[in-house]
Amino acid sequence: MSFTPIRILPDKSVEILDQTLLPQVERHLSLRSVAQVTEAIRSLRVRGAPLLGLTGACGLAIAGEERGTDAETLKQAAAELKATRPTAVDLGAMIDESLEAVGAASKTRTARKTALWKFAQQALTRQRERDMALANHGSSLPGLEGAVLTHCNTGGLATGGVGTALAVLAETWRIGRLQRCYVTETRPLLQGARLTMWELEALGISATLLPDTAAASLIASGRVNAVMTGADRIVANGDGANKIGTYGLAVVAARHGVPFYLAAPTSTFDTTTPSGKAIPIEFRGDEEVGGFGEERWSPKSGSTYNPAFDVTPAELITRIITERGVLQPPYEPAIAALTASNG
Ligand code: MRU
Repeated sequence: MSFTPIRILPDKSVEILDQTLLPQVERHLSLRSVAQVTEAIRSLRVRGAPLLGLTGACGLAIAGEERGTDAETLKQAAAELKATRPTAVDLGAMIDESLEAVGAASKTRTARKTALWKFAQQALTRQRERDMALANHGSSLPGLEGAVLTHCNTGGLATGGVGTALAVLAETWRIGRLQRCYVTETRPLLQGARLTMWELEALGISATLLPDTAAASLIASGRVNAVMTGADRIVANGDGANKIGTYGLAVVAARHGVPFYLAAPTSTFDTTTPSGKAIPIEFRGDEEVGGFGEERWSPKSGSTYNPAFDVTPAELITRIITERGVLQPPYEPAIAALTASNG
């Protein structure tokens, strides 16, 4: 595909593709301050766990230019960036890695700024390779030879590379196994309808869009051979957080004997959290539920319940696909071995 969701410009700014306007408008924004980066993350102009990690690294490099590179200043900027969205572990982890990289750099301000940009650029370059390795590992799994249901957006827009779950599906399509992709709308922000359908169209993959509420009956109808989603955080015991609605898909898939796959790079694993119960879940505002964008269709009175993510327990996950291979249950030892190796 020809879009670039994030790139570092020679003038030390960061250009992002504003995902809130897609697919109707392809507008790029230039970010030059920590405040602009935090706004872009909070409003989902950039989104998806791996892309949030890359944006965090870029945000810290911007902080170095804007505010300075002494340890206290960077620590403060890191805290502001991390506080934007709590569920995707990539964001905080990548910021911490970037802090470590600058910690190892020489004491001059120029050297420290260079180290921050270098770390961010290397992370951006690495992402494509990682995504492609993940896609190759996943493409021979059972069930992918037919129709696959996916949720939210896990393509290049979500990673800055070629994607996770969507990259597996694209590779499966390329080798002639996949026949159709079913895509949930993904209310309330419509990442499936707006972003995944846009990416699938560009890739030439046959795609069918459905309301989230139709997913259970679609699976029950036997039209789907597998369900595959991405993840925002996979913890030590294999429980995985992903876009709200994922848990329901996994329950229904299990009920009907359909394999349920999670695809995520190792940057999305968090072995310091023992189980899904301890994953922080982001709750978002009322305005996202009672309308879309400027448009309102629900009366203003009454409260909303708007979690952005839910947790799927490990026992409902058939396999976890990573760039280092495919994990199978029991996940606890498999994840410990995966994250212990520095591949
Ligand atoms: O709220 P979002 O759009 O950032 O949520 C994104 C998801 O839930 C994705 O499935 C997940 O980050 C995996 S991205 C490859």
